[in-house]
This record gives sequence, structure tokens and C-alpha cells, in this order.
Amino acid sequence: MTDENTFYSAAPLAVADRVPVLVWGTGNMGRASIRAVLAHPGLELAGVVVHTAAKVGVDAGELAGAGASTGVRATTDVESALALVAGRGAVVYAASGDIRPDDAAADVCRALARGAAVVTPALYALYDPASAPAELVGPIRAAAAEGGSALFVSGIDPGWGNDVLPLLLSGLAGTVDEVRCQEIFDYSAYDQPDAVRTLVGMGEPMAYEPPMVAPGVPTMVWGGQVRLLARGLGVELDEVRETLERRALDADVHNAMGTFAAGTQGALRFEVQGIVGGQPRIVVEHVTRIGPDVAPDWPRPADGADGAHRVVIEGRPRLSVTIEAEDEGGNRAAGGNATAAVRLVNAIPWLRAQSPGIYDALDVPLSPAAGRLGRSS
Ligand SMILES: NC(=O)c1ccc[n+]([C@@H]2O[C@H](COP(=O)([O-])OP(=O)(O)OC[C@H]3O[C@@H](n4cnc5c(N)ncnc54)[C@H](OP(=O)(O)O)[C@@H]3O)[C@@H](O)[C@H]2O)c1
Repeated sequence: MTDENTFYSAAPLAVADRVPVLVWGTGNMGRASIRAVLAHPGLELAGVVVHTAAKVGVDAGELAGAGASTGVRATTDVESALALVAGRGAVVYAASGDIRPDDAAADVCRALARGAAVVTPALYALYDPASAPAELVGPIRAAAAEGGSALFVSGIDPGWGNDVLPLLLSGLAGTVDEVRCQEIFDYSAYDQPDAVRTLVGMGEPMAYEPPMVAPGVPTMVWGGQVRLLARGLGVELDEVRETLERRALDADVHNAMGTFAAGTQGALRFEVQGIVGGQPRIVVEHVTRIGPDVAPDWPRPADGADGAHRVVIEGRPRLSVTIEAEDEGGNRAAGGNATAAVRLVNAIPWLRAQSPGIYDALDVPLSPAAGRLGRSS
């Protein structure tokens, strides 16, 4: 085995040889990231940074639902936490980026400048660094050069579903008319009323414009992935377009978040389309509902559960692959988050071996679970 391939090593490393990792933020992605670091034989959980005062001093294993204590306690002391990984480790930046994009970018720069490799789902524009705005890329490249460090941004839907999986499948296709990546979710069990009602618009009057699908927003969030896929498939896009359909509820729906009244929004479906030769050829599609029976004619998970990710290659042969990931007690949303987190965390040993800079899903290999089979305890 060559040095270049040591990140595939199956042998557990001595603690001193493992890459120390700081997980920054312990929400959906942060919890899953802590578990992914603990599971990786080449990584060592070095620290956890939190924003929520009530979490300070709590063991990372408890915060992450890992089933065991780790001896690593959460802190708000960013500087001391970064010192644990400076020059030799990595940061999983899992704090909010959508509501505080400038602060998140500044935090990522700070970690890169200290010489830590950084992986994060929080900076959407950098899913496709080639099309990211210069005012974001410039300071990040400067910080990476200062620290000699590398960055990988991935994670939405859940990252691999809109980049490496469709590209892998396209390699099994003959003629390809369309590449379609779907996230199909029923948000009934999501239990984040603010996001579900205010951001997505479920239960709001049909006259309400949900911020998640306001014109331009889907392209801002998912357009990078469409451009990345175009690059991987070797095509030039004419443009990126959006479509949106919304459905009202026929009857009241009741769940843990309360009542969603008849006549209010009960489902939405949007596409971010990469147009090639005037046709939508690369499509990222979301189908989101607030109950299993809403919009029954729209795509649904094959097994009737609450969520799935699917890639469909229209062509000859036609290919369709559906991934149904589960975590945190059979929860499909948590399953999607966990796969996104594992993809990021598993990239760390590879990133540590790269030259300073920004890497994307076309660069970062999908490493097999070497050394993890049968080692869940
Ligand atoms: N979930 C996904 O699959 C996914 C996919 C793509 C992108 N993303 C993006 O990745 C980021 C994390 O997603 P998530 O689902 O894990 O979100 P989340 O569950 O809301 O967690 C975000 C965490 O950010 C921290 N935080 C909140 N306000 C903060 C502030 N003002 N300053 C610093 N930290 C703050 C909190 O950490 P503590 O609780 O530890 O204090 C919170 O738990 C978001 O930007 C999201 O848009 C997520």
C-alpha cells in the first residue's frame, strides 16, 4: 500500500497517530459528525464547540446520542478548541450557516488559517467552488494558504445524492437523456415547526411565499450542485432554471407540530434544472409534503415511509436507485443527515494529505469503510 493510499488503511491507528478532530456545532449534522468521528479508526475526537449555553460541559457522547461517554466536554472557548487541532487536525464545521452566512465563512477562515483541514455543509456557494462568488472564495483561499490547509463543502440532499451517486450511475448508462436527483420527504415527523411552517410554508395560506422557494433561492442553494454535475458530465449549461408547484390541503392534518388546516399549503415540489441544448437535462427535484396522503400523484418513497433519496438516469438503459437511510431511532431525515456527515468526516484523512485549497465532490474520493466492519462497539 502506498503512502497516498494510507487513508484506506484497515488497521486501527494508535491514538497518537490519529487525526485530531474538532466538531463545531451539535445540531443535526454535528451530532451525526461526532458519531462518525468516533466510528473512524483514523480519527480522534479532540473537542466540541457549542453555541448553546446549556450544552457547555456536557460529554460529546451524550450530546451525540453515541451511547457512551467520550471524556470530551463541550465548550464555547473556540480559541482553546482550535489549538487542539491547529496544524495537524481537522474541524467539522456544523454550526448554522444559512442564517449567519458571513459569520460561518469567517469561522471557517479562522480554522483554515490555524492549519486545520475543514469540512462543512454550511457554505452552499462552495458546493461548486468553480462558480462561487469571488468575495467568498478569495478570503477562504487566503486563509487556506496561510494555514497550509484544505476545505471540502458538501452535505445537502445529502451531498452524495446530488453529486457522486448520479455520476457513478451515469457511468453505467449508455445514452443519457436526463439525470434527476430527488429528495422526497414527508415533514410530519420533522418537529421543527419554525422551519416547516415559516421556511417551507406548510400550514400557511397559499398566498404566503415560503422563503425556501422564493425566486432565486433554490438556485442559490442547489444550483452549485447542478453546475458540478454538468462539469462531471462534460457539458456546458445554457442556464439554470427553477420550477415550483404547490398544493393546498384537502383536509386538516394533525401531527406533533399541531394542526395544518385545510386550504393551507400541504405540499410543494420544485426543480432546479440545468438546461442543455434548450432542454432540462440535469435536475435536482424536491418533493415535500406534510402527511403521507397529500399530493398522492407526486413521487413517494417506494416503501411508504417518510423519506427517500432517489437518482433516476433517463436513457438506455434507464437506471433508478433509491437510498433509504435511517438513524436516531429509524428516522429517515436523521439518516440522510448522518450519511452527509459521514461523507464529510471520511474525507478528512484525504484532505489532510492535499495541497492547500478548496476541494469539491469531484475531487474527494468516496472512501470505503476500511477498518470499521464489525467494530460498532
Ligand atoms: N442537515 C443537513 O443535512 C444539512 C445539509 C446541508 C447543509 N446543512 C447546513 O449545515 C448547517 C448545520 O445544519 P443542521 O441541520 O445541523 O442545523 P441545526 O440542527 O440547526 O444545528 C445548527 C447548530 O448551529 C449552532 N448555532 C446556532 N446558532 C449559532 C450561532 N449564532 N453561532 C454559532 N453557532 C450557532 C448550534 O449548535 P449547538 O447546539 O451545538 O450550540 C446548532 O445546534 C446549516 O447551515 C444547514 O443549513 C445541513
